[in-house]
Amino acid sequence: MSNDFTAEYPGKIIFGNGSMAKLAENLPADAKILLVTGKSFAKSSQMADLEHILANFAKIHVADIGHEAPVEDVERLIDIGRKKKISVVVSIGGGSTIDAAKAAAAIIPAEGKCIDYFHGKRKLFLKGLFFAALPTTAGSGAEITSNAVLTESQTKIKKSIRDSLLIADLAIVDPVLTVSMTQETTASSGMDALTQAIESYICGFANSVTMALAENSVELLIKNLVSAYNDGKDLVARNLVAQGSLLSAMSFSQSGLGAAHGLAHPIGSLLSVPHGKACAILLPHILDFNFEVCQGALENLAFKSGLENAEFLIRRIKKMKQAMNIPTDFSEYGLNPSHFEFILKNCKSRSMQTNPRKMSDKDILELLRKLCGKKSNS
Ligand SMILES: [Fe+2]
Repeated sequence: MSNDFTAEYPGKIIFGNGSMAKLAENLPADAKILLVTGKSFAKSSQMADLEHILANFAKIHVADIGHEAPVEDVERLIDIGRKKKISVVVSIGGGSTIDAAKAAAAIIPAEGKCIDYFHGKRKLFLKGLFFAALPTTAGSGAEITSNAVLTESQTKIKKSIRDSLLIADLAIVDPVLTVSMTQETTASSGMDALTQAIESYICGFANSVTMALAENSVELLIKNLVSAYNDGKDLVARNLVAQGSLLSAMSFSQSGLGAAHGLAHPIGSLLSVPHGKACAILLPHILDFNFEVCQGALENLAFKSGLENAEFLIRRIKKMKQAMNIPTDFSEYGLNPSHFEFILKNCKSRSMQTNPRKMSDKDILELLRKLCGKKSNS
């Protein structure tokens, strides 16, 4: 645990059912908006509500950001932004849509292409365009974080552009926007939030603020995620899960993550596993690995969530996964030893370094063999 810390959040965070209605009054006057939404949101009835809310602003709408936020999609947004002299970027969608828009908002007024920042050849120096983020999923935390996770399609390399200049100016978390999430996305994004909260709590850079946020997040998600999965229209459960997700993001964005996230990125991009699902598959395995160094911390999380001890917490996570149809390994995604070299090479991110127990290459390979499932092991 760290006793010195700095916390950086969006300039304004608005939470509540129906809070999307507050978007217009919180945007700069005379904004020329680049509106980046998810595909399904663009076709939903909520899009009509948004059109109404933004009726007095000039805007260009883009609604086709690819899965895992491809760098070329960000280049396209930057191009539009520069040519059309956009002054504000508003993004409504899942983590990939928000991250692509976030990177574009920062780079539009800067120089160069997104790929230069992705490969660390350029660095941001000045604040980008005003950026507002409204998540339609409850899990990624992209509305809060200072990084944009992008994917280079050709190499399948998935990594972050990270800079406090990327932090949104305005985050509006409206649980009503999450009601139309499919069961699969509810499970995947919710388990992403839970993994983030737990990894934030046990990582070496946790502090009293991030731990308080993470504890509450874990409790909210453990108690309400399966209800939101079983009945997507249950607005009470949706609201509590959205709160859990927001607290998770406010926690991990100021501390760090762990090996579940370190491994979820290369496995997810290589085998096209949704990020949250990859996290959910990895989480119990990583907690088993970390157990000897963080049993006490897991015990605290268990007590807070009304569970008997750390083992019960891990057991509860496994039960939640089962209830939401999330597999225990990557066999159905075809993980096999031919993938190990790529995963090993691309998993050594900051998340891997902040894992509370050091994972050697041997440890990683041993876990990957287990994650191939019975078929590949026989
Ligand atoms: Fe995540």
